Amino acid sequence: MTAPASVVTLAGIGSYVPETVLTNAELAARVETSDEWITSRTGIRERRIASPDQAASDLGAEAARRALADAGVQAAEVDLIITATLSPDTVFPSTACLIQHQIGASRAWCFDIQAACSGFLYALDVAHQHLLTGRARTALVIGTEKLSAVTDWEDRTTCVLFGDAAGAAVLRAGGPGRGLMTTILGSDGSLGDLLMIPGGGSRRPTSAETLRNREHYIRMKGREVFKHAVTNMTQAAKEAIAASGLHHDDIAWVVPHQANARIIQAIAQRLELPQEKVFMNVQRYGNTSAASVGLALDELARSGRLRAGDNVVLVAFGGGFTWGASVLEWSRP
Ligand code: ACO
Repeated sequence: MTAPASVVTLAGIGSYVPETVLTNAELAARVETSDEWITSRTGIRERRIASPDQAASDLGAEAARRALADAGVQAAEVDLIITATLSPDTVFPSTACLIQHQIGASRAWCFDIQAACSGFLYALDVAHQHLLTGRARTALVIGTEKLSAVTDWEDRTTCVLFGDAAGAAVLRAGGPGRGLMTTILGSDGSLGDLLMIPGGGSRRPTSAETLRNREHYIRMKGREVFKHAVTNMTQAAKEAIAASGLHHDDIAWVVPHQANARIIQAIAQRLELPQEKVFMNVQRYGNTSAASVGLALDELARSGRLRAGDNVVLVAFGGGFTWGASVLEWSRP
């Protein structure tokens, strides 16, 4: 235990996407769909697919290495690793423990968080609290998904949406600026069955029947999820901005969970922000669940468009239902 910290900053950020690209045209050869339908309904043009020998921990470990290099931090300095994923390598051990071993962060204590597509923000907030109280000085937050392993490739209503990726951030106590200011989190368990993997847990243990019913894959009532996603992400972002003592004019960038271009456009409109301030890369990666916010923030940082002092809103929504929004001051050039 060290002294409590008053400021926690994102000292480094990194991401990883597998090399294999799966285009809409390729998907249209597998299921009854078209590039026109997918593009007009979702904005997605292609997604990445991990190789058979890559699991969520492999994608996450590579993103973590890149975030550590970006921060100039050694793996041995990391106190805490939190991994958010809905496609873990195994039910246990946790994917965080597997990543710890791969990157050699032997001093860290490690655990996974399950908040579906909001997982990165849940993990960020838990790490933030550990750093504020002095329980840890350096934390690694990783969102990683091999969604191709839990996607029903015969279900056109879901298989066109998802992709594989990982995003990671190094959080450190101290640093210039305000750093991470506020995170708002919310959940509504009454709507859990609108977006879930029904089989394979203790409610419906894997059996010949669950496999035959394809219960080990993601199921989603897309239209209902869409409405809740827009409402809750907008509300969470507004609350987080207000709780940080800011106004929407003070926001340089919104980095939302990348589920659907139409959701992202609706949020921009409701937050009264021009579309140019709302980062979007869903067209190239699809919905990568817990990986998407870290991946998007890393791409934005690497594009050179983020400036020191910029106020950034991260916002997400996912299965559970869960949602969250964080406000931070970007403190690096
Ligand atoms: N190709 C062609 N037609 C299709 C496809 C497809 N890939 N998928 C569905 N359709 C058909 C449907 O069968 C339906 O046909 P019908 O009218 O004859 O019954 C029609 O298209 C309309 O289907 P909807 O589901 O109503 O289409 P919608 O406009 O709502 O778009 C979508 C579907 C893209 C899934 C949208 O609802 C969405 O993005 N929802 C939100 C997803 C989301 O945000 N998830 C967030 C979290 S994800 C997580 O946590 C893992």
